[in-house]
Amino acid sequence: MPQPAQSERIFPDGFLWGTATAPTQVEGHLNDDWASFTAIDGEKPGRACEHFDRFEEDLPFILVMNNNAYRFGLSWARLQPGPRQPLDPKAVRRYREIITLLRRAGVEPMVTLHHFANPLWLPRDTRRDWDAFPPLFEDFVTRCAREFGDLVTFWIPFNEPVGWVVTSRITGHFVPCKKNQFGEARRVLIRLADAHRLAYRALHEHCATTPKVGVAKNYKLFRAYYPWSLPDAALAAFVHRIFNLRCADMFFERGGERVLDWLGANYYDRLQVRFFKALTPLTGVSRERLEELGVECDDMWDQCPEGMTEILNTVGKRYRLPIYVTEWGTSVSDDALRVKYLKSHLKAVADSIAQGTDVRGFFYWTLIDNYEWSLGYTKKFGLVGIDRTNPDLPRTMRPSGELYGRIAESGNVP
Ligand code: BGC
Repeated sequence: MPQPAQSERIFPDGFLWGTATAPTQVEGHLNDDWASFTAIDGEKPGRACEHFDRFEEDLPFILVMNNNAYRFGLSWARLQPGPRQPLDPKAVRRYREIITLLRRAGVEPMVTLHHFANPLWLPRDTRRDWDAFPPLFEDFVTRCAREFGDLVTFWIPFNEPVGWVVTSRITGHFVPCKKNQFGEARRVLIRLADAHRLAYRALHEHCATTPKVGVAKNYKLFRAYYPWSLPDAALAAFVHRIFNLRCADMFFERGGERVLDWLGANYYDRLQVRFFKALTPLTGVSRERLEELGVECDDMWDQCPEGMTEILNTVGKRYRLPIYVTEWGTSVSDDALRVKYLKSHLKAVADSIAQGTDVRGFFYWTLIDNYEWSLGYTKKFGLVGIDRTNPDLPRTMRPSGELYGRIAESGNVP
């Protein structure tokens, strides 16, 4: 295929093209606090995709897609057998092997250290437990910095800290499945921000190479359902200020100290609010129901590519830091729809760059169909499909994955 002229590239040279995964969702045979959780389809994470053991089989998909980066997690539960204990040497060896394979193939590893899951030994119910959390996490991060700091530059101590306290303490559909615990949600978020600060310092102190530390913050575009309705508009503006801005600020600066080198933005959807109700419920809604509500949607959410541009521009101006889109993806049964949304969202990222925002990478969620938390194996986000009816869990590249490869190669969206 002829290479497009440089001037045709709408993404800059050096742009990171990748996909993203998380340990609980892909690794398999993991003993974290999701191990005994049962999703709506009756499934536990269980074997997941056996990605930890079959990484050599999955790496070629990353390479065929011309990706120069891959975002994945190191599982705290797999690595550390107890509080303040040395990391498990077997797990360290395997993760180093995975990272080395990536590096040798010219793929930049971006490593998440906490993605919605905790080790079973971690006490996490009372106020005192949460007060004890930051130093325990710091200990884990320090050990990771020493073990992997020569191989990893991009670190994400926390994935979606704000989203996680909401789903685990308010809506209750994520482990530990508590509902309407607003006070606890606030306390946990504060401790996560404290832990982030300690992690930031630990990484900068103990990595053998200079680390770049970010946070993967989830953003939503909040909109009034009726633009003329003052209460709806006021509510949308209020939730935007709290969820998108104020809560994220805690991971940018803590106690007067700058604790972020770059910002990770996870953006998926628009949430329209009406009469103090979300018009499009938060998650797990059937496509039919969303269509009834009259929104352009995938199997989960209201699709709004322009929201990507707006959010990136807003946070770009607010923090003046390099931004990586650490997640965007879509769950659909019809891959043609994924192709459509992939193009529209990448064009939205390109628009933001053209408008002056410093966006330096894009990570599609997700590499391979995996365990979608409370929705189990019912959702298909992967550029690579997995056949769960076959005990061998065979993988197949989808046309959307082939398209993503062409985009990454050309730096352009057809
Ligand atoms: C999370 C992923 C999740 C994806 C799709 C993100 O908020 O980080 O773990 O699978 O959304 O729901």
